[in-house]
Amino acid sequence: MNPTLPAQSPRRAAVLREMGLGPLWLLRSLDAARAEAALQARAALGFASTVNAEVFSSVTRAQPAESQASPLGPQSPPRLQQPAALPVVVTEKVAPHRDSGREQRIATLDWDGLEEEIRSCQACVLCERRKQAVPGVGDRKAQWMLVGEGPGAEEDLRGEPFVGQAGKLLDNMLAAVGLRRGEGVYIANAVKCRPPHNRTPESAEIDTCLPFLARQIELVQPRLLVALGRPAAQALLNMEVRIGAARGQLFRYRNTPVLVTYHPAYLLRNPQDKSKAWEDLCFARRTMADLPQA
Ligand code: URA
Repeated sequence: MNPTLPAQSPRRAAVLREMGLGPLWLLRSLDAARAEAALQARAALGFASTVNAEVFSSVTRAQPAESQASPLGPQSPPRLQQPAALPVVVTEKVAPHRDSGREQRIATLDWDGLEEEIRSCQACVLCERRKQAVPGVGDRKAQWMLVGEGPGAEEDLRGEPFVGQAGKLLDNMLAAVGLRRGEGVYIANAVKCRPPHNRTPESAEIDTCLPFLARQIELVQPRLLVALGRPAAQALLNMEVRIGAARGQLFRYRNTPVLVTYHPAYLLRNPQDKSKAWEDLCFARRTMADLPQA
């Protein structure tokens, strides 16, 4: 029996067949309850019903899947390679802030001080139209830290990241790999105040907000950072990033490994790329499992 295939009762197998959900491979390490949640989340996400087992047994792809011309045609699975060749791209964020006093002060704040500072921040124009700043949410000792772009309307109202439609998808994505918001996961944004009309934050706004994110990362000390979308990736990696080209690679923010994937809001608009996000999460999961113990 394939070790990645969870034991299924004949009844559940029949239900899955009935729903058009064919055979499913789930992450090896999931316990039964998490596996069930993952199964439901995968269905809710509309991921392809059959997942190639290779996705679960390898750590990384040689190339981003979309850039590979496969001899087997567009339906063939991505070519995968084993951990020995894990591509680690080293980048070091050098924060370009002019007011280094501010940066240094933020770097010494504890959680309460940091959140207070974020909530009262007036360092860029984004403060002018926010209802409230949105610091972050989750397990402050998390192994996983997810970084989004910036609050939207719902987050601006409620003061918590990813509580709108994109957040629902994010929760489903997390559940699909056996994770849950707040349990070993911390979620923050590149900018803490809602950009007007949900526009993409400007580079200068991301840079001004970066000391907050940097301090959050330092306080959480996650083992793995996941950048959701391009602004988050650029904030962490200090370089131009195309998600399609950067996914499947491991980068570094200071000493923490970083990988990038699509932003959930992008996936809502482009559901055909959900399967790639699923691959990325599997890659993240395998990467986490293979990280040396601290
Ligand atoms: N999109 C983001 O990037 N962050 C949020 O908190 C909500 C939507």
